[in-house]
Amino acid sequence: MPQAPEKGRYVQAMFDTIATHYDRVNDLMTAGAHRQWKRQTVALAAITPGARALDLATGTGDIAFLLADSVGPQGEVVGLDFSEGMLAIARQRNLQGRNITWLQGDMTAIALPDASFDAVTVGYGLRNVTNLDRALAEIHRVLRPNARFVSLDLGKPRFRLIRWGADIYSFRVVPLIGGIVSGNRDAYQYLPESNQSFVDQRELAKRLQALGFTEVQVHDRAMGAMAIVSAKKPRS
Ligand SMILES: C[S@@+](CC[C@H](N)C(=O)[O-])C[C@H]1O[C@@H](n2cnc3c(N)ncnc32)[C@H](O)[C@@H]1O
Repeated sequence: MPQAPEKGRYVQAMFDTIATHYDRVNDLMTAGAHRQWKRQTVALAAITPGARALDLATGTGDIAFLLADSVGPQGEVVGLDFSEGMLAIARQRNLQGRNITWLQGDMTAIALPDASFDAVTVGYGLRNVTNLDRALAEIHRVLRPNARFVSLDLGKPRFRLIRWGADIYSFRVVPLIGGIVSGNRDAYQYLPESNQSFVDQRELAKRLQALGFTEVQVHDRAMGAMAIVSAKKPRS
C-alpha cells in the first residue's frame, strides 16, 4: 500500500482502470446486497424534496442517483469523485437526466462553499483517503446546521471468528472475482488492504463526535463486515 501523496495518485489511477467493470464486480462480491445498503444510507440521510445533497467518492453514481430520486426535480445533487474514469460511467448511466452535477475533485479539499448541503453521503470512499480527519472536517464544513452525514463502508466485525471469515473473503475471494471480471487482480487486492489501514466503524463514530457531530450511530451490516455510520451537524 503506497503512502501519501502516492496513495492518492495510485487510488485515482486504479479506479480509472477498473471503472468499466466496477458495478458488475460489486454485484458479484456482495450478491447484490450493496444496493440495499446504499438505499439504507440514503434513507438515513433523511432528506426531503427540494433539498441539496452531496455524494462524495460518488464513483459510478449509485448513491447520487438514489439521492436525486429523494430530492426530486426541485432539489439538487452533486456527485464528487477524483476519478474521471468513474465519473464518465456515472454520466453515461444518468439516462433519466436526473438533476445531478458531476464534479471532479478531492474530498479532502472540497471546492464548494461552507454550509451548502442538507446531507453528505460517502459510499466506500473514506477508507481511500490519505487524511481521514481532513475529509471529515471538510464534510462538517459543507454541511448546513441540522444536516446529516452518512458513510457506508467496509467494517471490522467485533467477534474474532467473524472477522477471520470476513478477512478470508476479502483477501482471497474478492481478488479472485475482481481479477476474473476486470482482468486486474492487483486492484482488487488493494480493497482488503485499504480496509486494514482504515479505522473501524466505532473509531469513525468517535472521530465524528470529536468534530462536534451529534446523534452519531453505527449500523452494522453483514455481522459488522459492513457498516453505515450516520451523524448530525448540530444547529450551532
Ligand atoms: C469503491 S469506489 C465507491 C464508489 C461509490 N460510492 C459506490 O459506493 O459504489 C471509491 C471511489 O472513491 C473515489 N475516491 C477515492 N479517494 C477520493 C478522494 N480523496 N476524493 C474523491 N474521490 C475519491 C475513487 O475514485 C472511487 O471512485
